[in-house]
Amino acid sequence: MQNQIQAAARRLAECRKLVVLTGAGVSKESGIPTFREAQEGLWAQYDPMEMATQEGYLRNPPLVWRWYEYRFGMVEAAQPNPGHRAIADLEQILPQVTVVTQNIDGLHQVAGSTDVVELHGSIRRFKCLSERHTGFTRADFADQAEIPPHCPRCGDLLRPEVVWFGENLPMDALSRAFDLAETCDAMLVVGTSGAVQPAASLPFLARRAGAVVIDVNTERDEIACVSHIFLQGPGGEVLPALVAVLRVASRGDLG
Ligand code: APR
Repeated sequence: MQNQIQAAARRLAECRKLVVLTGAGVSKESGIPTFREAQEGLWAQYDPMEMATQEGYLRNPPLVWRWYEYRFGMVEAAQPNPGHRAIADLEQILPQVTVVTQNIDGLHQVAGSTDVVELHGSIRRFKCLSERHTGFTRADFADQAEIPPHCPRCGDLLRPEVVWFGENLPMDALSRAFDLAETCDAMLVVGTSGAVQPAASLPFLARRAGAVVIDVNTERDEIACVSHIFLQGPGGEVLPALVAVLRVASRGDLG
Protein backbone atom coordinates (compact mmCIF):
# COMPACT_ATOMS: atom_id res chain seq x y z
CA MET A 1 0.00 0.00 0.00
CA GLN A 2 2.85 2.43 0.79
CA ASN A 3 4.11 2.17 -2.80
CA GLN A 4 0.65 2.93 -4.12
CA ILE A 5 0.34 5.89 -1.76
CA GLN A 6 3.72 7.17 -2.99
CA ALA A 7 2.58 6.74 -6.60
CA ALA A 8 -0.68 8.54 -5.89
CA ALA A 9 1.19 11.36 -4.11
CA ARG A 10 3.53 11.78 -7.08
CA ARG A 11 0.55 12.12 -9.42
CA LEU A 12 -1.24 14.58 -7.14
CA ALA A 13 1.92 16.66 -6.59
CA GLU A 14 1.78 17.70 -10.26
CA CYS A 15 -1.90 18.54 -10.07
CA ARG A 16 -3.11 22.13 -10.62
CA LYS A 17 -6.85 21.51 -10.24
CA LEU A 18 -8.01 18.71 -7.94
CA VAL A 19 -11.58 17.49 -7.44
CA VAL A 20 -12.29 15.34 -4.39
CA LEU A 21 -15.51 13.38 -4.96
CA THR A 22 -16.88 11.92 -1.73
CA GLY A 23 -19.69 9.65 -0.62
CA ALA A 24 -21.06 8.29 2.64
CA GLY A 25 -17.89 6.26 3.30
CA VAL A 26 -15.89 9.38 4.14
CA SER A 27 -18.28 10.08 7.05
CA LYS A 28 -18.43 6.49 8.29
CA GLU A 29 -15.53 7.06 10.73
CA SER A 30 -17.44 10.02 12.13
CA GLY A 31 -20.11 7.57 13.26
CA ILE A 32 -22.58 8.31 10.48
CA PRO A 33 -23.83 5.09 8.87
CA THR A 34 -23.48 4.86 5.10
CA PHE A 35 -26.69 5.21 3.19
CA ARG A 36 -26.93 1.52 2.32
CA GLU A 37 -26.20 0.21 5.76
CA ALA A 38 -29.13 -1.21 7.65
CA GLN A 39 -30.88 1.40 9.72
CA GLU A 40 -30.73 0.84 13.45
CA GLY A 41 -33.15 0.82 16.33
CA LEU A 42 -36.55 2.39 15.89
CA TRP A 43 -35.88 3.27 12.27
CA ALA A 44 -34.87 -0.24 11.21
CA GLN A 45 -38.49 -0.97 10.31
CA TYR A 46 -38.61 1.86 7.76
CA ASP A 47 -37.17 1.85 4.23
CA PRO A 48 -35.07 4.97 3.49
CA MET A 49 -36.05 4.65 -0.17
CA GLU A 50 -39.66 5.14 0.99
CA MET A 51 -38.95 7.93 3.47
CA ALA A 52 -36.57 10.04 1.36
CA THR A 53 -39.24 10.87 -1.23
CA GLN A 54 -41.83 13.66 -1.64
CA GLU A 55 -44.59 11.02 -1.70
CA GLY A 56 -43.27 9.44 1.49
CA TYR A 57 -43.18 12.84 3.18
CA LEU A 58 -46.70 13.79 2.13
CA ARG A 59 -47.97 10.37 3.25
CA ASN A 60 -46.74 10.97 6.79
CA PRO A 61 -45.03 14.35 7.34
CA PRO A 62 -44.48 13.96 11.12
CA LEU A 63 -42.86 10.52 10.67
CA VAL A 64 -40.47 11.60 7.92
CA TRP A 65 -39.67 14.85 9.76
CA ARG A 66 -38.79 12.85 12.89
CA TRP A 67 -36.56 10.56 10.80
CA TYR A 68 -34.66 13.58 9.59
CA GLU A 69 -34.50 14.92 13.17
CA TYR A 70 -32.94 11.58 14.18
CA ARG A 71 -30.38 11.81 11.35
CA PHE A 72 -29.76 15.50 12.07
CA GLY A 73 -29.03 14.58 15.68
CA MET A 74 -26.35 12.13 14.50
CA VAL A 75 -24.84 14.76 12.20
CA GLU A 76 -24.89 17.46 14.89
CA ALA A 77 -23.12 15.09 17.35
CA ALA A 78 -20.58 14.00 14.74
CA GLN A 79 -17.10 15.45 14.38
CA PRO A 80 -15.05 15.48 11.19
CA ASN A 81 -12.69 12.50 11.16
CA PRO A 82 -9.02 12.45 10.02
CA GLY A 83 -10.22 11.77 6.48
CA HIS A 84 -12.27 14.97 6.34
CA ARG A 85 -9.38 16.90 7.85
CA ALA A 86 -6.84 15.47 5.41
CA ILE A 87 -9.09 16.56 2.53
CA ALA A 88 -9.27 20.07 4.03
CA ASP A 89 -5.44 20.07 4.41
CA LEU A 90 -5.07 19.51 0.65
CA GLU A 91 -5.98 23.19 0.21
CA GLN A 92 -2.68 24.16 1.87
CA ILE A 93 -0.69 21.99 -0.55
CA LEU A 94 -2.35 22.22 -3.98
CA PRO A 95 -3.36 25.36 -5.90
CA GLN A 96 -7.05 24.48 -6.42
CA VAL A 97 -9.08 21.91 -4.48
CA THR A 98 -12.85 21.50 -4.77
CA VAL A 99 -14.86 18.93 -2.86
CA VAL A 100 -17.87 17.52 -4.70
CA THR A 101 -19.86 15.56 -2.15
CA GLN A 102 -22.94 13.35 -2.22
CA ASN A 103 -23.15 13.69 1.55
CA ILE A 104 -25.66 15.97 3.25
CA ASP A 105 -23.90 16.15 6.63
CA GLY A 106 -21.83 19.30 6.07
CA LEU A 107 -18.76 17.71 7.73
CA HIS A 108 -16.38 18.79 4.96
CA GLN A 109 -17.17 22.44 5.77
CA VAL A 110 -16.83 21.78 9.51
CA ALA A 111 -13.40 20.20 8.81
CA GLY A 112 -12.28 23.38 7.00
CA SER A 113 -12.84 22.67 3.30
CA THR A 114 -13.72 26.02 1.77
CA ASP A 115 -15.02 25.04 -1.67
CA VAL A 116 -17.69 22.33 -1.35
CA VAL A 117 -20.30 21.42 -3.97
CA GLU A 118 -23.22 19.62 -2.27
CA LEU A 119 -24.77 17.50 -5.02
CA HIS A 120 -27.52 16.12 -2.78
CA GLY A 121 -28.12 19.23 -0.63
CA SER A 122 -27.72 19.55 3.11
CA ILE A 123 -29.60 18.20 6.14
CA ARG A 124 -28.63 21.45 7.88
CA ARG A 125 -30.78 23.58 5.55
CA PHE A 126 -34.56 23.64 4.95
CA LYS A 127 -36.98 24.91 2.32
CA CYS A 128 -40.74 25.06 1.91
CA LEU A 129 -42.50 22.36 -0.07
CA SER A 130 -43.24 24.84 -2.86
CA GLU A 131 -39.45 25.58 -2.98
CA ARG A 132 -40.22 29.31 -3.18
CA HIS A 133 -38.24 29.93 0.02
CA THR A 134 -34.97 28.12 0.70
CA GLY A 135 -31.86 28.25 2.88
CA PHE A 136 -33.61 28.21 6.25
CA THR A 137 -31.72 26.92 9.30
CA ARG A 138 -33.25 25.40 12.41
CA ALA A 139 -33.03 28.80 14.13
CA ASP A 140 -35.62 30.11 11.65
CA PHE A 141 -38.34 27.84 13.03
CA ALA A 142 -37.09 27.27 16.61
CA ASP A 143 -40.19 29.06 17.90
CA GLN A 144 -42.57 26.58 16.26
CA ALA A 145 -43.80 23.62 18.33
CA GLU A 146 -45.70 21.95 15.49
CA ILE A 147 -44.10 18.94 13.72
CA PRO A 148 -43.30 19.49 10.88
CA PRO A 149 -42.82 23.29 11.16
CA HIS A 150 -44.06 25.68 8.50
CA CYS A 151 -42.27 28.13 6.25
CA PRO A 152 -41.77 31.44 8.09
CA ARG A 153 -42.43 33.25 4.78
CA CYS A 154 -45.42 31.52 3.20
CA GLY A 155 -46.73 29.06 5.79
CA ASP A 156 -46.17 26.02 3.55
CA LEU A 157 -44.77 22.82 5.13
CA LEU A 158 -41.00 22.89 5.56
CA ARG A 159 -38.77 20.01 4.41
CA PRO A 160 -35.03 19.32 4.50
CA GLU A 161 -33.12 20.91 1.61
CA VAL A 162 -31.89 17.50 0.41
CA VAL A 163 -32.42 15.70 -2.91
CA TRP A 164 -35.05 13.00 -2.50
CA PHE A 165 -35.23 9.91 -4.69
CA GLY A 166 -36.84 10.82 -7.99
CA GLU A 167 -35.90 14.50 -7.70
CA ASN A 168 -33.44 16.45 -9.81
CA LEU A 169 -30.15 17.55 -8.34
CA PRO A 170 -29.66 21.32 -7.83
CA MET A 171 -28.77 22.57 -11.30
CA ASP A 172 -26.01 24.96 -10.24
CA ALA A 173 -24.28 22.22 -8.19
CA LEU A 174 -24.62 19.64 -10.94
CA SER A 175 -23.39 21.85 -13.77
CA ARG A 176 -20.40 22.95 -11.69
CA ALA A 177 -19.62 19.31 -10.85
CA PHE A 178 -19.68 18.30 -14.52
CA ASP A 179 -17.49 21.28 -15.47
CA LEU A 180 -14.99 20.42 -12.73
CA ALA A 181 -14.88 16.75 -13.78
CA GLU A 182 -14.13 17.75 -17.37
CA THR A 183 -11.46 20.33 -16.53
CA CYS A 184 -9.64 18.93 -13.48
CA ASP A 185 -6.30 17.20 -13.86
CA ALA A 186 -6.89 14.86 -10.93
CA MET A 187 -9.93 13.39 -9.19
CA LEU A 188 -9.60 11.77 -5.77
CA VAL A 189 -12.71 9.63 -5.12
CA VAL A 190 -13.38 8.67 -1.51
CA GLY A 191 -16.03 6.46 0.07
CA THR A 192 -18.61 6.08 -2.64
CA SER A 193 -20.08 2.89 -4.03
CA GLY A 194 -20.53 4.61 -7.39
CA ALA A 195 -24.07 3.25 -7.38
CA VAL A 196 -26.03 6.46 -7.92
CA GLN A 197 -26.11 8.69 -10.98
CA PRO A 198 -25.27 11.35 -11.96
CA ALA A 199 -22.50 11.54 -9.32
CA ALA A 200 -21.19 8.12 -10.35
CA SER A 201 -20.46 9.37 -13.88
CA LEU A 202 -18.06 12.10 -12.71
CA PRO A 203 -14.95 9.86 -12.39
CA PHE A 204 -15.59 8.49 -15.89
CA LEU A 205 -15.84 12.03 -17.27
CA ALA A 206 -12.63 13.02 -15.50
CA ARG A 207 -10.78 9.97 -16.81
CA ARG A 208 -12.03 10.61 -20.34
CA ALA A 209 -10.87 14.21 -20.07
CA GLY A 210 -7.35 13.01 -19.21
CA ALA A 211 -7.37 13.44 -15.43
CA VAL A 212 -5.69 10.95 -13.12
CA VAL A 213 -8.34 9.15 -11.04
CA ILE A 214 -7.46 7.81 -7.61
CA ASP A 215 -10.06 5.79 -5.66
CA VAL A 216 -10.09 5.29 -1.89
CA ASN A 217 -12.51 2.72 -0.51
CA THR A 218 -12.54 -0.07 2.06
CA GLU A 219 -13.68 -2.41 -0.71
CA ARG A 220 -13.62 -2.47 -4.50
CA ASP A 221 -16.40 -0.28 -5.88
CA GLU A 222 -17.78 0.72 -9.27
CA ILE A 223 -15.11 3.42 -9.54
CA ALA A 224 -12.09 1.14 -9.13
CA CYS A 225 -12.37 0.01 -12.76
CA VAL A 226 -11.88 3.57 -14.03
CA SER A 227 -9.24 4.61 -11.51
CA HIS A 228 -5.51 4.67 -12.24
CA ILE A 229 -4.76 3.90 -8.59
CA PHE A 230 -7.03 2.11 -6.08
CA LEU A 231 -6.07 2.64 -2.44
CA GLN A 232 -7.96 0.06 -0.39
CA GLY A 233 -8.58 1.12 3.20
CA PRO A 234 -10.58 3.46 5.39
CA GLY A 235 -10.44 7.10 4.35
CA GLY A 236 -9.54 8.09 7.91
CA GLU A 237 -6.26 6.17 7.57
CA VAL A 238 -5.43 6.32 3.85
CA LEU A 239 -6.01 10.06 3.37
CA PRO A 240 -3.76 11.31 6.21
CA ALA A 241 -1.02 8.96 4.95
CA LEU A 242 -1.51 10.24 1.40
CA VAL A 243 -1.43 13.90 2.48
CA ALA A 244 1.71 13.33 4.57
CA VAL A 245 3.55 11.90 1.55
CA LEU A 246 2.09 14.58 -0.72
CA ARG A 247 3.52 17.32 1.50
CA VAL A 248 6.98 15.82 0.89
CA ALA A 249 6.32 15.15 -2.80
CA SER A 250 5.09 18.69 -3.40
CA ARG A 251 8.44 19.95 -2.13
CA GLY A 252 10.09 17.68 -4.70
CA ASP A 253 11.81 15.65 -1.97
CA LEU A 254 10.41 12.29 -3.03
CA GLY A 255 13.14 11.82 -5.60
N1 APR B 1 -13.56 4.76 4.14
C1 APR B 1 -13.76 4.74 2.79
N2 APR B 1 -14.83 4.13 2.20
C2 APR B 1 -15.71 3.52 3.01
C3 APR B 1 -15.57 3.50 4.42
C4 APR B 1 -14.43 4.16 4.97
N3 APR B 1 -14.22 4.18 6.30
N4 APR B 1 -16.64 2.81 4.95
C5 APR B 1 -17.40 2.43 3.91
N5 APR B 1 -16.85 2.85 2.75
C6 APR B 1 -17.36 2.69 1.40
C7 APR B 1 -18.21 1.47 1.17
O1 APR B 1 -17.39 0.37 0.78
C8 APR B 1 -19.11 1.94 0.01
O2 APR B 1 -18.51 1.63 -1.24
O3 APR B 1 -18.22 3.79 1.18
C9 APR B 1 -19.17 3.45 0.17
C10 APR B 1 -20.52 3.96 0.61
O4 APR B 1 -21.43 3.66 -0.41
P1 APR B 1 -22.98 4.04 -0.25
O5 APR B 1 -23.49 3.65 1.08
O6 APR B 1 -23.66 3.57 -1.50
O7 APR B 1 -22.97 5.64 -0.23
P2 APR B 1 -22.80 6.62 -1.45
O8 APR B 1 -21.91 6.05 -2.49
O9 APR B 1 -22.45 7.94 -0.89
O10 APR B 1 -24.29 6.68 -2.03
C11 APR B 1 -24.54 7.65 -3.02
O11 APR B 1 -26.87 7.28 -2.95
O12 APR B 1 -28.43 6.62 -1.55
C12 APR B 1 -28.03 7.70 -2.25
O13 APR B 1 -28.22 9.99 -1.79
C13 APR B 1 -27.65 8.80 -1.32
O14 APR B 1 -25.71 10.22 -1.41
C14 APR B 1 -26.13 8.86 -1.45
C15 APR B 1 -25.89 8.26 -2.81
